[in-house]
Amino acid sequence: MSELSTSITLTGGAVIPRFGFGTFKIEDGDSQAAVETALETGYRLLDTATGYGNEEGVGRALAASGLDRGDVFLTSKVWDHGYDDVRKGLEDSLARLGTDYLDLYLLHWPRPAVGKYVESWQALVDARAEGLIRAAGVSNFTIEHLDRIETETGAAAELNQVELHPYFSQPELRAYHAEHLIATESWGPLALRGGGLFDEPAVKAAAEAHDRTPAQVALRWNLQRGNVVIPKSVTPDRIRENWATLDFSLTDAELDAIDALDTGVRQGGDPAVVGN
Ligand SMILES: NC(=O)c1ccc[n+]([C@@H]2O[C@H](COP(=O)([O-])OP(=O)(O)OC[C@H]3O[C@@H](n4cnc5c(N)ncnc54)[C@H](OP(=O)(O)O)[C@@H]3O)[C@@H](O)[C@H]2O)c1
Repeated sequence: MSELSTSITLTGGAVIPRFGFGTFKIEDGDSQAAVETALETGYRLLDTATGYGNEEGVGRALAASGLDRGDVFLTSKVWDHGYDDVRKGLEDSLARLGTDYLDLYLLHWPRPAVGKYVESWQALVDARAEGLIRAAGVSNFTIEHLDRIETETGAAAELNQVELHPYFSQPELRAYHAEHLIATESWGPLALRGGGLFDEPAVKAAAEAHDRTPAQVALRWNLQRGNVVIPKSVTPDRIRENWATLDFSLTDAELDAIDALDTGVRQGGDPAVVGN
């Protein structure tokens, strides 16, 4: 990747690649082929979740790839809350993925009305101490949720995976992450749930200037703004197109023009209500 580090060292010492492969909405039957294509292309960060129902296919792809387990950074997420349920969820994910550790495990949503995200977080902290996970993180946590787990357990999240794209670039949350040494990982980086990002003049102009696609520009903006990025595709050409985001750079003026697209409006679920 030109002018950018290809990885970030998380506060617990695990090294996460900056660019990875998302698997949301890939059926278990399709996930092996998609993940195999991603691994052949060069991706070394895989993002799945219990809720995606495809951990077995991801695990099969990993086994079939012939790569050493240590060469791939494997992330999964737990939907259930409560100390024991999180621990059971982790053991079940390890079995489905066919591995004895995860590189990163995330609480998928804070589910604040369930009222258990602090004890759920403690289960991740303890699993990290036991070596079942290399890094402990969260997903879709707001500043309020992040503050509470750090204050009540003494352990900050190492990473927060959140909706983040040019229409919803989360400047306040990213500033909080920077202060607390929490890595930011972007989901939905292509903003395809609405708005027409690929037709925005700022995106089209940068794509034309660098002879790239609007998707590559959107992903590159996200990387250059300091985030880990995990686009998903089941389409081999797109899997390769997205990977080819790593070998060009946007100028500061192009980055600023794309920053200006922020609306502050989410395309996906609101952490205050999802899963309550
Ligand atoms: N923590 C959470 O709550 C959460 C929520 C959502 C997502 N995620 C994670 O983040 C990953 C990425 O987010 P996402 O899957 O929602 O959104 P995304 O990666 O922004 O977009 C995926 C969509 O874009 C299409 N696409 C991919 N590359 C493209 C390209 N180069 N040109 C045009 N279209 C392209 C894909 O189509 P095809 O597949 O048909 O090619 C798919 O419909 C997920 O897969 C998942 O691992 C996490």
